[in-house]
Amino acid sequence: MSKSTGLDRRNFLKGAGLTALAGAASVGGVASSASAAATEGPSYFRKGKYDFDTIYSRIGTDCVKWDDQITLFGDKVKVGMGIADMDFRAAPCIGDAMSQRLQHENWGYLRADGLNSYIEAITDWNRERHNLDVDPASIVVATGVHPGLIATLKTFSPPASKVLMMTPTYNGFYSDLTRSQTIKNESVMIFENGRYTVDWDDFEARMTSDTHSLLLCNPQNPTGNVWSEDDLLRIGELCLKHQVVVLADEIHADFVREGVKYTPFASLPDKDIVNNSVSFKAITKTFSMPASKNAYWFSTNPVFLERIKVNHRPDINTLGVVANEAAYRHGADWLDQLLPYLDANHQYVEDFLIENLPQVGYTKAEGTFLSWLHFDEIMDAVGVVETSAASQNTDNPMTETEAFEAWLVENAGVQLNDGEGYGKGGERSMRMNIGTSRQQIVTAMNSMAEAINNI
Ligand SMILES: Cc1ncc(COP(=O)(O)O)c(C=O)c1O
Repeated sequence: MSKSTGLDRRNFLKGAGLTALAGAASVGGVASSASAAATEGPSYFRKGKYDFDTIYSRIGTDCVKWDDQITLFGDKVKVGMGIADMDFRAAPCIGDAMSQRLQHENWGYLRADGLNSYIEAITDWNRERHNLDVDPASIVVATGVHPGLIATLKTFSPPASKVLMMTPTYNGFYSDLTRSQTIKNESVMIFENGRYTVDWDDFEARMTSDTHSLLLCNPQNPTGNVWSEDDLLRIGELCLKHQVVVLADEIHADFVREGVKYTPFASLPDKDIVNNSVSFKAITKTFSMPASKNAYWFSTNPVFLERIKVNHRPDINTLGVVANEAAYRHGADWLDQLLPYLDANHQYVEDFLIENLPQVGYTKAEGTFLSWLHFDEIMDAVGVVETSAASQNTDNPMTETEAFEAWLVENAGVQLNDGEGYGKGGERSMRMNIGTSRQQIVTAMNSMAEAINNI
């Protein structure tokens, strides 16, 4: 989708910054009471050591979440609620560690093997927060989850073979398929009682002789599902039976709502199932620093490790290592304050929708900082079918959910991610990122309510 405004970017961003912040502060209609509540805030939010409540503008920093959307859609964008990073000021321990490293003014190659202190920080975090023992010798560093996923797909899934996914699923997986020259094999999940479940018959039927890998997302982006141990065991058993390797992407592991349990795939109580898997993790989502380009993967299966390493170049970024290690070692209290804030954001969205937009289908996510909203007949009412059809022979062909994304920006000033990007099953849904200050969410929700209720 190419949408260009052709504006002078620097000047435009300056002005757009004012627009976005003004938008956040002044909301109309149903907005005013909710806005006041958010500004006063439950006293709880005022008490913490870290301030997640004050809007922290990222405009003008070349960030995808705001600047890219303003470039694409123009100054209509009031609130960017798209790509999955968060708007908060980072945990102070991260900046402190980076400042200290800056004193040493040399940026030569960093060894990717033998980063003992960093690897120890990773294993400590997994043990302490997730009760998972990872053998340090099995950890391979990477500049992101994607490079590890691509190397692993190249190892197990030859070009033109199929990769199984439970959809809707993380949109970035589709670009990993492109880079490994593999083909999607989408098992659409069943949406029942507000929760997504695996369609087990379809899932197994898709484990054909040309399907060698499963891309599993836990906790699941975009639906917010946190898979139970039973679900994971059943997935693992079927994959073992049909010789499908499990690629467990657990980048959202640190985000589970209170009372929900995240089960690392590598912690399952069946050695054979675990040996048939590779896990991909990072702390970059957790502390909102994905551009620090640090992630890692590991497996209990030494043959897998050696085979994947042939396709993987373990590069790593010096300041990224410093930032990530600082977060692992000293960031827990920041995260412990953030998680209830995100829980409350999820709750706010649920309460708001029930009260003001009951026509939007929604179930609060069990994990992640993402909300998966179902717009169903609202999308039809605004004519996305016609808009999409009319766009097909233009420079800017749009899917129906892209047409709705554009409609929401135009009419509510809110940018969400289009549901069809997440594969089959996303045709009437949109993903909303709630990893931002409450006031931004209040602005977005009120603006959407006003626009939709005026249709
Ligand atoms: C499930 C999932 N995997 C991977 C990524 C990207 O990981 P990285 O930036 O480390 O390549 C994302 C980013 O949104 C994600 O949601």
